[in-house]
Order: sequence, then C-alpha cells, then structure tokens
Amino acid sequence: MSRKNHASDPTLKERLASGHEVEDDAVDRLLPPWVSALSEVHWTPVAVAAAAAAFLTDERRQSARVLDVGAGAGKFCVVGAASTGARFEGVERNPTLVGVATLLARDIGVDRVHFHCAAMEQLDWQSYHGLYFFNPFGEYFIEDGSKILEGQPRGWRAYAHQVRTAIAKLYLMPTGTRVATYHGLGASLPPGFDLVATERFGTGILRCYIRRDPLSIASPHPPEDFFERPGIFEEPTAVLRPAWNNDGEAGTDAGHGPPLACDEGELEHE
Ligand SMILES: C[S@@+](CC[C@H](N)C(=O)[O-])C[C@H]1O[C@@H](n2cnc3c(N)ncnc32)[C@H](O)[C@@H]1O
Repeated sequence: MSRKNHASDPTLKERLASGHEVEDDAVDRLLPPWVSALSEVHWTPVAVAAAAAAFLTDERRQSARVLDVGAGAGKFCVVGAASTGARFEGVERNPTLVGVATLLARDIGVDRVHFHCAAMEQLDWQSYHGLYFFNPFGEYFIEDGSKILEGQPRGWRAYAHQVRTAIAKLYLMPTGTRVATYHGLGASLPPGFDLVATERFGTGILRCYIRRDPLSIASPHPPEDFFERPGIFEEPTAVLRPAWNNDGEAGTDAGHGPPLACDEGELEHE
C-alpha cells in the first residue's frame, strides 16, 4: 500500500507525483489476483498513463477534468491524478471493477478520482476537457473479454455498435477537447481532431489529438454515410487481436479478420 517502509522511502503516490519511473507491478500488486492477471493486456501501463495524462491536462493543468472511457481497474485514472494533480473520472460498466478501481485509488491515497458505474453511452462527455481510450471495446470479441464484460452480448456487431456510439459522441465534443488513445478506439476519430503527437510504448502507440476545427461544431452529427465508408473501422491492434471465425465473430479459426467496412445491415440500432 502507500505506507512507507522507512521514514525516508517515498510512497507510491509520491513516486508517481514526482515523475519517477514506477514499475507496473508496484500498482498491479495492489489489485485482486484475477484483476492483476489481466493487467498486461487490459490495463494501461504506468508509463503510458503518465504520458497520456500529461498531454490531456497540459493546457489547464490542475483544473482539467479527464474521463477514461472504460476505466477497468482504474489504473489510468489513479496514475493520471497522482502524476498531474488534475481530476480524473472513469466510466466503467462492470460494477466489480468499479469497486476495485475505487479501492485502488484509496490504497494509493489519490483523492481527485471518481468512478461512475455506468455504460459510457449514458454519460455526458461534454463537461470533460480530455478523454482517454485504451481500446475500450476490444473486450467485445477477444477471448478473455468475457471475464470483464460479465454476460454482455459480445462479437463483431456489439463491438461495431460500441465504436459507432463513441464516434458519434466524439462528434459532439467542443473545440479544444484533448483525446489520447492507446491501441486506438476502433475507428478513425471524426474530422476536426488533429493528431498532434504520437509515441510508441511497448506493443502500442499513444496518439494525442486536439479538436481544433470550429467549423465541424456547426455540424455536430456524423454524415449519414460516415460508418459505411470503407476502412472506417480499424482492425484491432496486436495486443487485442482475437482469433476470428468466418463470420467475423470471435472464435478459434485464426486468420479471418472482421469486415473493415461497416455494412449498415450488420449493425444493431438503438
Ligand atoms: C481495455 S480495458 C481499459 C481499462 C482502462 N481504461 C485502462 O486503461 O486501464 C476496457 C474497459 O472498458 C470497459 N467497457 C467496455 N465497454 C464499455 C461501455 N460501453 N461502458 C463502460 N465501460 C465499458 C470494459 O469493461 C473494460 O474494463
């Protein structure tokens, strides 16, 4: 936990705040074993979280409010708040993980953190200055995703529906919104989000965007054909690559990718 072993040893919170390199294990070992076992694939590495948090809060510093879309065990929010002093919130649909994330923040002693137990669709994103995505919808088809999604419908259709909903919400974000993705979010960001920085970390790339184009705000809804354009959905990146069957659903028959262009008839509608 965050207790000091010796009077002179910095706590984990102090090490995160001072920008010292912190091993992932120092955070992961505070998680329950089944959650910690998922860390390498599903939870943001500390170094990525610190870099993304620095970008997302760069303009407003401690007055920034950042949302982690699909907060999982809370690692990104806790590291982000500890390293920047800004307010970090996460939205996570799995109530067990919301409990785990809340305890992680308490154990490390970070207080400018809050986790909403909800589906990301239900939350208004517009009051946040920064948004973070670590491929949050990969669990809809990767093999061990069911451990996290607890009975949610999974597969390509559910995945595409989630991605499409997130993109539609991004269309509504105001000028100046900062977005960071690690391993993407499943599709290109809408027009008006300028890619301003990239950095490779381990198996993925951290991409940093700023919404600059005020004209795109005048037309906040995606063009009708947006999700039908070829290539609009991205194949998941390596760390979350599933084994596919011929229908584009997660399965055991590796080698067949999902349809990259979205056929309207394939998707569920709300
Ligand atoms: C790859 S994990 C990332 C966790 C965290 N952002 C991090 O970087 O450590 C994605 C998380 O998103 C959650 N998630 C997926 N779809 C969601 C939705 N529609 N609403 C809320 N949470 C969702 C999953 O339950 C999972 O915990």
